[in-house]
Amino acid sequence: MQLKHYLQFTDLGREEYEYVFERARWMKRAFKQYRQYWPFADRTLAMIFDKNSTRTRLSFEAGMNQLGGTSIYLSTRDMQLGRGEPVEDSARVISRMVDLIMIRTYEHDILRRFAQHSRVPVINGLTDEYHPCQIMGDIFTFIEHRENIAGKIVAWIGDVNNMCNSWLQAAEVFDFKVHVSAPPGYEVNPEQIGLIGTKNFEMFSSPHEAVKNVDLVTTDVWTSMGFEAEAEQRKADFADFCVDAEMMTLADENAVFMHCLPAHRGEEVTADVIDGPQSVVWEEAENRLHTQKALMEYLLLGKIQDT
Ligand code: CP
Ligand code: NVA
Repeated sequence: MQLKHYLQFTDLGREEYEYVFERARWMKRAFKQYRQYWPFADRTLAMIFDKNSTRTRLSFEAGMNQLGGTSIYLSTRDMQLGRGEPVEDSARVISRMVDLIMIRTYEHDILRRFAQHSRVPVINGLTDEYHPCQIMGDIFTFIEHRENIAGKIVAWIGDVNNMCNSWLQAAEVFDFKVHVSAPPGYEVNPEQIGLIGTKNFEMFSSPHEAVKNVDLVTTDVWTSMGFEAEAEQRKADFADFCVDAEMMTLADENAVFMHCLPAHRGEEVTADVIDGPQSVVWEEAENRLHTQKALMEYLLLGKIQDT
């Protein structure tokens, strides 16, 4: 099988996502019914973390376990990679010992270089620029609620970060629109994320205008990991970009609210929204597990017959 990495959302096409989602639905049912499915007996996933994580580590580790395989948690605090061993050498060595590698790191270029020197599939577990696994889980969750995302409108309120970039890439693949509302100085740069000539997003200076009649309202922390030095400035810059109940009333009445978590209630979202009836954040978190299991199966085994 040809080596396939998952570094950005656009690394899979629409038809591949549809296949992965079908497998994720099957795996979700099997998991809920305590049915064993162990295609990864004797397979190992290495997970390299250069940043903190709860959901990503848990979903990959539990997921690998549920598929009959093993995972190894590696923190760059303990690895030679964290003491200056070249990314390329680390990739050559690690990929001779395991079947699959997931990395959470800073610049996307680190991940790209790692993948270039890996003999096994590499998965992006979040970089400064992208978080494709989360958006895959989010789109799966949206489809569970509303059947289809094509033709719908997503409002992204707040920081134009890794999550926002992956939403914008997903809009190209699944053919929906993204309304982005961010303060001056934090605008989208479509060329930087490979979206030349895209018609699938629109910038709004007012978050209230951006959410009008949309099908999904979503946001994220104002200060992502790695940007902590800017936290105070960002709190001031984003003060008018909190998703609150009044803002939600402007969206479609069936609109859902999403947040990749962890959240800061009272900053990017109020408690009544994230803990309210339109919020699907816990399902979003759970679906990381099911979709990533299906992704790992696809990257390692390709398309298989339903079991
Ligand atoms: N949403 C997400 O990726 O969460 P973690 O940072 O806890 O992995
Ligand atoms: N944008 C956030 C997402 C955390 C899952 C960050 O990068 O810190």
